[in-house]
Amino acid sequence: MTLPIRIAPSVLAADFSRLGEEVRDVVEAGADWVHLDIMDGHFVPNISFGPDVIKALRPHTKAIFDCHLMIAPVDPYLEAFAKAGCDSITVHAEAGPHLHRSLQTIRALGKKVGVTLNPATPLSVLENVLDDIDLILIMSVNPGFGGQKFIPAMLDKIAATKAMIGHRPIEIEVDGGITADTIGAAAKVGANVFVAGSAIFGMGDRTAYRTEIATLRRNAETART
Ligand code: DX5
Ligand code: ZN
Repeated sequence: MTLPIRIAPSVLAADFSRLGEEVRDVVEAGADWVHLDIMDGHFVPNISFGPDVIKALRPHTKAIFDCHLMIAPVDPYLEAFAKAGCDSITVHAEAGPHLHRSLQTIRALGKKVGVTLNPATPLSVLENVLDDIDLILIMSVNPGFGGQKFIPAMLDKIAATKAMIGHRPIEIEVDGGITADTIGAAAKVGANVFVAGSAIFGMGDRTAYRTEIATLRRNAETART
């Protein structure tokens, strides 16, 4: 099953002093989803923002809020992120011993269910939950920071993900080091959702956001055909 190409700018690289405006600008510039990176200084060595910031951003756009939780434990916070206005909630398989329970909780909250894997985590941890998820996020850097280099070995992992999901309509998202140069290779092997932080927000203003999003989309679409 071939799902549409979706460009998901990560606000981690945006100007935090005017986040609402940044979100509006990037959506107006053609973003499909808004990627929200939540870091707790424990599961990953950095701290970003929490549900109250997402709640404050929610009135600024109708675009999908794609929430990537890099926190452990995660279960006690799922309801807060759902209530804050996230549309999809993605948890790390490494974040706790009861992945299936976390996925059930997200489903019960009425949100799209996502799972993500660090670069060193094998895909096999997803074999028994494939029918419970809407999205698989393949980390192509070690989570915690924007601006890192894409890890090329993740291309084989994306290809294996595509083969593993078969005909299930699961989104395959890739996160970390996505630029106009790396997006094509990831699209070619089966990813359809592309997180990009520094490649988009690093451009500085909304005219450049539009150009960059269009370039990313074109490179992904060309590589697919
Ligand atoms: C990393 C985050 C990413 C990050 C991507 O832990 O999950 O979403 O913001 O940033 P770039 O696109 O700069 O690699
Ligand atoms: Zn992310």
